[in-house]
Amino acid sequence: MESKLEKIVALAKRRGFVYPGSDIYGGLAGTWDYGPLGVALKNNIKNLWWRMFVDSRDDMYGMDAAILMNPKAWEASGHVAGFADPLGEKMFNTMFRTNVGAGEEAQTTYLRPETAGGIFVNFKNVVDSFHPKLPFGIAQIGKAFRNEIAPRDFLFRTREFEQMEIEWFTRESEWEKWFDFWRERMREWVVEIGLEKSHVHETEVPEKDRAHYSRRTIDFDYDFPFGRGELYGLAYRGDFDLSAHAKASGAELSVLDETDERVVPHVVEPSFGVDRTVLAVLDSAYAEDEMGGEKRIFLRLNPAIAPVKAAVFPLVSNKEPIVAKAREIYSSLKPLVPSIQFDDIGNIGKRYRRQDEIGTPACITVDYQTLEDDTVTVRDRDSGKQERVAAKELDIHLTIG
Ligand code: GAP
Repeated sequence: MESKLEKIVALAKRRGFVYPGSDIYGGLAGTWDYGPLGVALKNNIKNLWWRMFVDSRDDMYGMDAAILMNPKAWEASGHVAGFADPLGEKMFNTMFRTNVGAGEEAQTTYLRPETAGGIFVNFKNVVDSFHPKLPFGIAQIGKAFRNEIAPRDFLFRTREFEQMEIEWFTRESEWEKWFDFWRERMREWVVEIGLEKSHVHETEVPEKDRAHYSRRTIDFDYDFPFGRGELYGLAYRGDFDLSAHAKASGAELSVLDETDERVVPHVVEPSFGVDRTVLAVLDSAYAEDEMGGEKRIFLRLNPAIAPVKAAVFPLVSNKEPIVAKAREIYSSLKPLVPSIQFDDIGNIGKRYRRQDEIGTPACITVDYQTLEDDTVTVRDRDSGKQERVAAKELDIHLTIG
């Protein structure tokens, strides 16, 4: 029998969410490529995160740093010495090395193993441009790379992945308050993206398992189909990073507090993996039931992140007035709901199944009655129930429904 993970991987490939990396060459371990629906889902997740944690706050600064950084940054951050996993007798540093420049001038550097590094080295730039008062945060979404010894379990442990990270700068005396604050925001996020609540567990990470920079970590674990594993992490990094970079670079990485004293802020870091989010979202959304005497697979995705928000069908594809009306409705909705699809391939049952499998919340069907009274049917993905709605009210229906 197929395991749930195998079913998710098969659906992801079949429907164009995620393909094995370099597929026609037999793949490359630890890499996956996002297809048309996968990139839409991933972008929706990232946009929602950005809206929630950056755009809706006055105390958060977004940025996008280069993936390649001066190797001195990774020496100062402790990653050159300490970012390693046990491999046989020796420790294996999981940072990818690469060369910048050619010939004699070539310099060895690394692909960043966490996006956080780019934030710390830009701390002074952001402070100089915006003069923020403590507490404030800097947020970034971007790729990170780790030469994992054993990549596994689809999107769970890969060698190239994306992170959404916040470095929250606070006075040392207030770190616990902000740690609790961000823990609460992370809980809200998990609900917002529609993860099955009973699958999410918060675990205090013991000192021996914490990253070298962390003084306290809580993992948000998720019950993936293959077992429980880390979904997100919330860490208290103290002043480890800013102090280390200040020492190594000679830059002044402090801010003036309200008594005009220079202080090195302490850092609380909520860190979210994008790919693990996609996997957890697919796992929570994946469902099977029976409808009309047939087995069906559907994704109960939160409409806010569904890659296709709605689909418009003509009931039959060989009656010109019905097809023309369906196209007209589709075109009028497209500017409002850009991720809407038009589908006239196969019979209506097949189209419903296809949209169910990609998690489309609403299917709009134009039929004979539409030509008489300008109403359409709107079918709900989860229940399969249909209601008749006036075509001119579809915009309201789709945006609030
Ligand atoms: N800046 C803190 C940091 O990087 P981490 O726990 O090593 O902490 C944060 O990584 C998040 O990045 C994890 O919770 C996970 O979601 C994601 N992540 C880490 N390694 C990963 C991998 N090999 N494949 C996919 N996602 C990964």
